[in-house]
Amino acid sequence: MRYSGYAYINTIGCQMNVYDSEKLAAILNALGFAHTRNLDQADIVVCNTCSIRHKAEEKAFSFLGRFAKEKQKKPHLLTVMAGCVAQQEGNNAFKRLPHLDLVLGTQAFSRFGRHIDALQSGQRQIVDTGPSDVIFEAMPDDTNFLENQVSRFVTIMQGCDNYCTYCVVPYVRGRERSRFWKSIVKEIQVLADKGIREITLLGQNVNSYGVKEGGISFAALLGKVACIEKILRIRFATSHPKDLSPDLIQAMADLDKVCSHLHLPVQSGSDNILQKMNRGYTRKTYLSRINDLKNTCPDIALSTDIIVGFPYETRADFNDTLSLLTEVQFDSIFAFAYSDRSSAPAAKFAGQVDEKEKMDRLNQLLALQDSVTKKKNKYLKGQIMEVLVEGFSARHHDGFVKTSDNMKQMTGRTASNKVVHFPSETIRVGDLVNITIENAYLHSLWGRPTESEHHEE
Ligand code: 5AD
Ligand code: SF4
Repeated sequence: MRYSGYAYINTIGCQMNVYDSEKLAAILNALGFAHTRNLDQADIVVCNTCSIRHKAEEKAFSFLGRFAKEKQKKPHLLTVMAGCVAQQEGNNAFKRLPHLDLVLGTQAFSRFGRHIDALQSGQRQIVDTGPSDVIFEAMPDDTNFLENQVSRFVTIMQGCDNYCTYCVVPYVRGRERSRFWKSIVKEIQVLADKGIREITLLGQNVNSYGVKEGGISFAALLGKVACIEKILRIRFATSHPKDLSPDLIQAMADLDKVCSHLHLPVQSGSDNILQKMNRGYTRKTYLSRINDLKNTCPDIALSTDIIVGFPYETRADFNDTLSLLTEVQFDSIFAFAYSDRSSAPAAKFAGQVDEKEKMDRLNQLLALQDSVTKKKNKYLKGQIMEVLVEGFSARHHDGFVKTSDNMKQMTGRTASNKVVHFPSETIRVGDLVNITIENAYLHSLWGRPTESEHHEE
């Protein structure tokens, strides 16, 4: 069936959700719905949700909750909860959100169109948390929204088999499964032809790509993607320290297009806690992988995820995390206070850490990392860095940022994933340019194009 009207999609959570939302957008588009960024205009509202921490879950309920009133004024408005919270809650979602029309679990996206048809014919409170009935590459694409974009995510595998004791992912995203490499390459080729220059390959643990299926390795997949001519940069996330292979480290060194940046979540610097988290490595093996990386790829930028206040974490355990940060000198970190998830085993652990203590540890950790990041960024002053241009720096609503010499300010990223702002009127989105770094801040760098970059129009 074809419909008319506007669809609004709100995406909460990780990069994988961003990718999934694009697939949902493509389905809505094929059904005749135009996209809107104006909630008042929407005839259908989709919230693609995340359940990794309590806060993200609450965000989804509070966003969708506001439509109870709205539907009294606008009875035809359809509301959809999609993704991880939908998978986790199923029918229970209606207890808090009786006005909700559809609960669409993580494996049910391919049936979204069918459910929209049912809603349009008057059915309400539909729940689909069933298993996937198609290989996920069969989901449609919509390349209309790619205009003026440089960088895209491409999911190469779904689910996770690692069962870290704090994590809901294996329960809401299911078992790990990898896509066939040819379909990944085909999808990226289409994106490249539409002007995309940077690809981030996504999976919960990209290092085990293809292992279960007996397909090509992740390092080999990087080689295939690197052969796509118009793709200039390749990134990937996330890597699991226990599966980071020497092959992959070597591929990062050998393939110019693969950015010299690795996100390698450590979660804790204490062996005691790593074991309780079921991470499958020790502090020593993590540090030895970091050492291998630094030796093979000397200019590598490193980032990580840390959880503070995991059950049983003592001050001494936490100090081990602080000392690991000092030892590795990450370029950036994502740090979280442990959040109890009822479907994950750690929820049943005794030894829960007091909330205030968690916040104190989080703040102490972030303060330490800020000082490391500042120091590392300052060191870049005076260096020439290659930047992939993403666009003009825009303030929220009042147009472009102008520099003191009244030039438009542009923005892009280095291979090491640092944001760089610079003045230019002539450089184009998607260009790779050399920028001399003049100033370094905590979250960005500021520089000027080297002389050769000032090309005439
Ligand atoms: N509480 C806090 N942080 C969590 N993460 C995953 N589960 C939890 C939880 N229950 C963090 C981990 C992971 C990142 C994506 O989210 O650090 O790497
Ligand atoms: Fe969650 Fe661990 Fe799987 Fe990452 S590796 S998604 S933290 S279970």
